[in-house]
Amino acid sequence: MEKRIPRHVSIIMDGNGRWAQARGKRRVQGHVEGVESVRAVVEAAAEEGVEYLSLYAFSEENWTRPKEEVSFLMDLMVSSIEKEIGSFIEKGVKCVVLGNRARLGEKIDAALRSMEERTAGGKRITLIVFLSYSGRWDILQAVKKAAAEHPEGLSALTQEDFSEYLVTAGIPDPDLLIRTSGEQRISNYLLWQSAYTEFVFTDVLWPDFRKAEFHKALEEYAGRDRRFGKVK
Ligand code: IPE
Ligand code: IPE
Ligand code: MG
Repeated sequence: MEKRIPRHVSIIMDGNGRWAQARGKRRVQGHVEGVESVRAVVEAAAEEGVEYLSLYAFSEENWTRPKEEVSFLMDLMVSSIEKEIGSFIEKGVKCVVLGNRARLGEKIDAALRSMEERTAGGKRITLIVFLSYSGRWDILQAVKKAAAEHPEGLSALTQEDFSEYLVTAGIPDPDLLIRTSGEQRISNYLLWQSAYTEFVFTDVLWPDFRKAEFHKALEEYAGRDRRFGKVK
């Protein structure tokens, strides 16, 4: 049987802190190791022919973490971009960052913009990084934008129209959502977009999630029966 490859795979990359703590290291060392998993999974997804890979990197709620951890994460983001950008361009990876960009500060936003511009020609896979993102924030900003554009009111607005106001406009909804670290919750991620997404939960912590784990999740997806509410 031909293997069913999801067009859009999304991942809640969780468990970095626990990975580090289990090794007697500082939590942030888990984030550093997690970058290696990102590299491995981007490669695996491109090899498998996945068109969109999206990663939940930092939630709106994550701003409430100790400020040392937040600033470490932001610095790590910028230094990882600088390190990876050459290989992204070479491999045809187009990068897009979605979320409440206004909260990130000019230095980080500029680094992200430069990454988006320099990789814009990538044709092999689109890598979407959700940064300072939350599903409720997304829905609310979409409502406000839609209302501003339609002073006559929103009564004619369809679901398809509304989707175009979300930050994911133009991107297909995720077919598969993987969450690592054993937690089985959505943590305010793609609330609207995950209406018919298949979920795969694994106990593996994000820094240990590499190509073999990614392939395992794709296999589990291939065995799922997606009905979208219909009778088959
Ligand atoms: C995921 O790992 C990374 C982010 C949320 C930024 P965590 O930092 O949440 O690690 P745990 O869940 O505390 O182990
Ligand atoms: C979800 O992980 C957010 C990201 C992976 C970026 P959290 O660690 O923040 O989620 P909770 O607090 O366990 O729900
Ligand atoms: Mg966590």
